[in-house]
Amino acid sequence: MNELESKAMARTWFYPFQLPSGKVTPTYHGGALDLIHHTRTRMLDAELARSFGEDFSALSALDLACHQGWFSAHLARRGFGRVVGIDARAEHVADASLIRDAMGLSGWTVHQSDVHRLDELALGQHDLVLCFGLIYHLENPVGALRVARAHCRRLCLVETQVVPGISGWVDYGSYRFVRPLKGSFGIIDETGETHGPEASTTGICLVPSLEALLWIMQRIGFARVEVLPVPEDGYEQLVHHKRVMVAGWVEG
Ligand SMILES: C[S@@+](CC[C@H](N)C(=O)[O-])C[C@H]1O[C@@H](n2cnc3c(N)ncnc32)[C@H](O)[C@@H]1O
Repeated sequence: MNELESKAMARTWFYPFQLPSGKVTPTYHGGALDLIHHTRTRMLDAELARSFGEDFSALSALDLACHQGWFSAHLARRGFGRVVGIDARAEHVADASLIRDAMGLSGWTVHQSDVHRLDELALGQHDLVLCFGLIYHLENPVGALRVARAHCRRLCLVETQVVPGISGWVDYGSYRFVRPLKGSFGIIDETGETHGPEASTTGICLVPSLEALLWIMQRIGFARVEVLPVPEDGYEQLVHHKRVMVAGWVEG
């Protein structure tokens, strides 16, 4: 174990990173959340194989809300030529950088930025954009999805908690002007938890229904949108449709 690995192993993490020596970083949830990370990784890999084949060396990826870099590390290890992670929290950027260096991965950069202020970094477009575990922590999830779309050249994967939807018709100003609902949002209060490492930075969270998410992704410019299959032995929230991973392709 080198010095960087020792530093990583000396504390607890959100993710069980496997380091070059084979050691796995201890997690602060005692392994209770490992399955959600592994399930999403399996789903990501299945989609990568379907959309990109086996050689990723010419591809670039943008990991929005990368946290400590679990998915960025995975993409870098799988051979993506360029991986860019961004997160609002400075401590995650520092942690992701430590993990990258401890793993000896190159071609992976990490920046501190709010997803709504990404223009300032001028990161350009990427073949793959990941938007995992983010939009249900935001008060402007549609804006964040637009950011994801603007930075996407080929495929965007959005993984999120969803709420049960309501459907039906609304008298929109008058009974003469009746409009169908295209989905709905649930409001979750994280105002007391904004210090939490996985939480919202503002505390007001709009969580979409699945119908809302699919409709919005189509409207903001994804030519094809699809809910990805979940392994039967995967994390219960994904298996039971409380969370989803949706793929949006720029070209049909
Ligand atoms: C539940 S964690 C998900 C982390 C990772 N993407 C995953 O799926 O495992 C939410 C992440 O979103 C980040 N975050 C919250 N609000 C953000 C914002 N406005 N812009 C960028 N990142 C944000 C948090 O710092 C945290 O790392």
